[in-house]
Amino acid sequence: MYYPDELVEEVREKNDIVDVISGYVRLKKQGSNYFGLCPFHNEKSPSFSVSQSKQMFHCFGCGAGGNVFTFVMQYENYTFPEAVANLAERAGVALPEVSYDEEARKKENRRARILELNKAAAKFYYFMLRSPQGAGGMEYLKNRALSDETMNRFGLGCSSRYSDELLKYLRKQGYSDELMREAGLVNYDEKNGLYDKFWNRVMFPIQDINHRVIGFGGRVMGDGKPKYLNSPETVVFDKSRNLYGLNHARTSRKNHMILCEGYMDVIAMHQAGFTEAVASLGTAFTSGQASLLKRYAKEVLLTYDSDEAGTKAALRAIPIIKEAGLTARVIHLEPYKDPDEFIKNMGAEAFQKRIEEAENSFFFEIRVLQKNYRMDDPASQTEFYRAIAEKLCGFQEELERENYLAAVAREFMIQPEQLRKMVISYAARMGGIPETVRPKPTADRKKAQEDAGRTSQKLLLTWLVDEPEIYPIVRKYVTPQDFTVELYQKTAERLFADMDRGSPNPAAIISMFTEEEEQREVAGLFNTKLNELSDNSEKERALQDIIYRVKQAGYEYYNERTGTDADAIAEALERKRALEELRKVHISLKPGSE
Ligand code: GTP
Ligand code: MN
Repeated sequence: MYYPDELVEEVREKNDIVDVISGYVRLKKQGSNYFGLCPFHNEKSPSFSVSQSKQMFHCFGCGAGGNVFTFVMQYENYTFPEAVANLAERAGVALPEVSYDEEARKKENRRARILELNKAAAKFYYFMLRSPQGAGGMEYLKNRALSDETMNRFGLGCSSRYSDELLKYLRKQGYSDELMREAGLVNYDEKNGLYDKFWNRVMFPIQDINHRVIGFGGRVMGDGKPKYLNSPETVVFDKSRNLYGLNHARTSRKNHMILCEGYMDVIAMHQAGFTEAVASLGTAFTSGQASLLKRYAKEVLLTYDSDEAGTKAALRAIPIIKEAGLTARVIHLEPYKDPDEFIKNMGAEAFQKRIEEAENSFFFEIRVLQKNYRMDDPASQTEFYRAIAEKLCGFQEELERENYLAAVAREFMIQPEQLRKMVISYAARMGGIPETVRPKPTADRKKAQEDAGRTSQKLLLTWLVDEPEIYPIVRKYVTPQDFTVELYQKTAERLFADMDRGSPNPAAIISMFTEEEEQREVAGLFNTKLNELSDNSEKERALQDIIYRVKQAGYEYYNERTGTDADAIAEALERKRALEELRKVHISLKPGSE
């Protein structure tokens, strides 16, 4: 359902955020804000704040934040339209049926219908498992040491012994055969006609981060083949952009996530208290999944099976994880095959110990590499050292490379000087690791620069919201086009437009975005920590500095992306000139002097 902006804004205005949140969280007034214990992470002292004047909430502990819609979306796991509808009802605002683009509505309807259908199927499987017919499935899962609580938490179920019971059930509920096929719940062939895709299996519903059922995995109860059947990709099920267990793991608030291969592994880990575990969906780990994880953690711990296939999969996943800007470590499970078996045999405490001992991914890669060489043969050993040298060249930053070089030399008892020579000679053959000779911005340094630019952009937006009186000064130098992230740019456009009209409304800007993650990020833009600046001259300098850095980041960002024709070059020069000008101006915050 799509609602017009004015209506969304009316609903938001009629639901005071302090009132609404007070229904969920005990809030205490402190200064101009309200504080309480954050409902989105575990904490003992309150770092969750609600601002009545801004109509926003923000948690200094976990970074959750947004407007009243974001709060109920996150707390109740509503979609944006659901949040709007619920708060409209709360405030007595009537929502009209709005028609919008026919094509878009059809698609949205289709998605909604399939999600609804999946939910109905999940219920069917759920009750089947808990009925007499599900006794076999129940016994199977109990034998695998799952508690009732765990089974409920993951919504586990089982499919019927007959191959068309779901089909009949869903038909009775009024769903069309076509929709069932599109959802991947039933198959069709000439000989049998329509039949259930899953029968006589224990069922694992696969949920997205909002707990919506997007697909299923089904396991045979025993040794049959195939061991697992998985739903095909559908309009709601993108296997490269979802992870099993992430709906629970995302609120585990650890600095790391544990990535494994199997549904049973995830469930066993959660049951043992490791709620930060997720698994890919029967397919290889993708960069889309890596960036999903990056929202919640800085490090990924891999616990792939300890066999050859698992090792290979881990070797493939490591560069993808690093590429996303996360660090990777590998949890060793020997002598057990996977986390499920390990925990069953050794318990949670032993697993925690393995987590702490997880191996740096670079060492893991080297050790796997070592298996291809014979350490008792000098020629083969030298080859191995060369291979290490080659891998070391992958670290572009000298300091990092040196650190790894020293550590590898220690671990494998190689003379560091010898190894360094090999690195240099390998690099020379490959045309050099340039920065050892002549420093140039490395990917890392460049990234740090971009991050710094982004931080300045966030600071500026927060400052504008906190002290709208600086807007006339900012407006003189900065345009929304200077912002280098699409989300920031959209936010700035709207904020600047509001400020031009003299009515900045940050909480309303948040509702321009309908995804919880985006709302959280935009709220973050308005809640960046500003240093307390005591006097005006300090403030003036800080503001000038931030404006300069925003312009500079914008300049660098667009400079890299513009063409080389005369116009583009002229424009780049103009931007450069403006930037240099800015270095010289003096910003004054005294009233009337801007
Ligand atoms: P258990 O044997 O029940 O402990 O399973 P597991 O969770 O340890 O799974 P395993 O390590 O054997 O496989 C990892 C993942 O690969 C599973 O969760 C499935 O997603 C997928 N998978 C395993 N076997 C099959 C199969 O036969 N077909 C398909 N399509 N996927 C499979
Ligand atoms: Mn297993």
